[in-house]
Amino acid sequence: MSARDENLGEMLARRGFSRRALLKFSIAMTSSLALPPGLAPAMAENLAQARRQSVIWLSFQECTGCLETLLRSASPTIASLIFDFISLDYQESLMAAAGGAAELTLRQAVAANKGKYLLAIDGSVPVADGGVYSLTGGKSNVSMLQEFAPDAAAILAIGSCAAYGGIPKAYPNPTGAVGVEDVIANKPIVNIPGCPPIPEVLSGVLVYFVSFGKLPELDDKKRPLAYFGTTIHDQCYRRPFYDQGKFAKSFDDEGARQGWCLFELGCKGPTTHNACASVKWNENTSFPIESGHGCLGCSEPDFWDAPGGFYTSLAGADGPGWEAAGIAAAAGVALGAAAAFRARRK
Ligand code: SF4
Ligand code: SF4
Ligand code: F3S
Repeated sequence: MSARDENLGEMLARRGFSRRALLKFSIAMTSSLALPPGLAPAMAENLAQARRQSVIWLSFQECTGCLETLLRSASPTIASLIFDFISLDYQESLMAAAGGAAELTLRQAVAANKGKYLLAIDGSVPVADGGVYSLTGGKSNVSMLQEFAPDAAAILAIGSCAAYGGIPKAYPNPTGAVGVEDVIANKPIVNIPGCPPIPEVLSGVLVYFVSFGKLPELDDKKRPLAYFGTTIHDQCYRRPFYDQGKFAKSFDDEGARQGWCLFELGCKGPTTHNACASVKWNENTSFPIESGHGCLGCSEPDFWDAPGGFYTSLAGADGPGWEAAGIAAAAGVALGAAAAFRARRK
C-alpha cells in the first residue's frame, strides 16, 4: 500500500503511535474542543479510519505570516502529523510547481475533489477597482474565490486578514480589502482569526472536520466557540492583579516588574476573544501578555484601527463607561467590571 492510500490510523502506526496514543490524543482534543468526554472513543475510531482530506489553500492579500506560524511545530505530535496527513493539494508557497504547471495542479485538484475539498484562504480579498490589487496568474483574488468556493465542502478563513480584512483593511483601506465572508454566502465558513492565528486552533478545527465531517460549533463571528468563547482577560494569569487594582503604569516601572496588569498600558484582553491565555504559543510556552506586552486584540475585527491606538487603555479610548469599570475593578469588584466589558462589546 502506498503512503498516499493509507488511513490515518495506519499512518500513525507507521510513525510509531499506538491506538492508545490516538485515544489519548482524542481525549485531549475533545477537551480542547469543549466536547463531551464520551465522544473521545468515537473520535479516535473516526480518525483511525479517516482518509486524507483534500485541502486547497489559496493565498490572497497576505504577509505569509499565517502559513509560517502553521508550519512551526517543534515536535512530531499527533496534532502536527494531522498537517502531514491532510492532502494539501495546492499551496503556491509550498509547492514546487510554478506558473502554468501550478495552475494545472489547482484545476486538477479541484476537479478530483469536487464538493469534498476544504478551501483554505489566508489573506484578505481586495475588491476595489475590480480586484486588481492582488492577482495570481493574472486572475484577481476575488474572482478566484468566487470560482473555487462553490465546489468546496467548507471554507477555512485563516488569520484575521481572511476572516475580517485584517491589516490590509486598516484605514484608509486603499484596496477595498474585505474578509472571505463578505464575498461568499451560502457556504459553511469558519473564521480562525489572529494575526497570525494559533496553529493548535486550526489543527483542532481540522481534527473535528476529519472526525465528524462538519465544522465545529461557531460563535456569532463564525469562530470556533471552543477557542473563542472567552476573552483573553477571562483566562489571563495577570487577572488577580486586575482584580486588586494593581496596574503597571509604564513598561519599565515596578508594577511591570512585578507582573501587574497591563490594562492601563493599552491591553485589549478584556475585549479580545482568543485562546492565547490557555493554549498559548510555541507549544504552550508563552503569549504576548506573558512576555510583558498587552494584547493588541489581533483576533478581533479592525484591531489595527483601535480607538486611541494600541497603547491607549480601553478606559481612555472608550470614555467614562470604561473608566467606571476600571475604578470598580480597583475597588475589588472586577467580576462586575468584566461583565461591563462584555456588555459593552455587544
Ligand atoms: Fe499576515 Fe496577520 Fe494577515 Fe496572517 S492575519 S496574513 S499574519 S497580516
Ligand atoms: Fe490580563 Fe490584560 Fe486583563 Fe490585565 S487587562 S488581566 S493584562 S488581559
Ligand atoms: Fe493576538 Fe492578543 Fe493573542 S495580540 S496573539 S489575541 S494575546
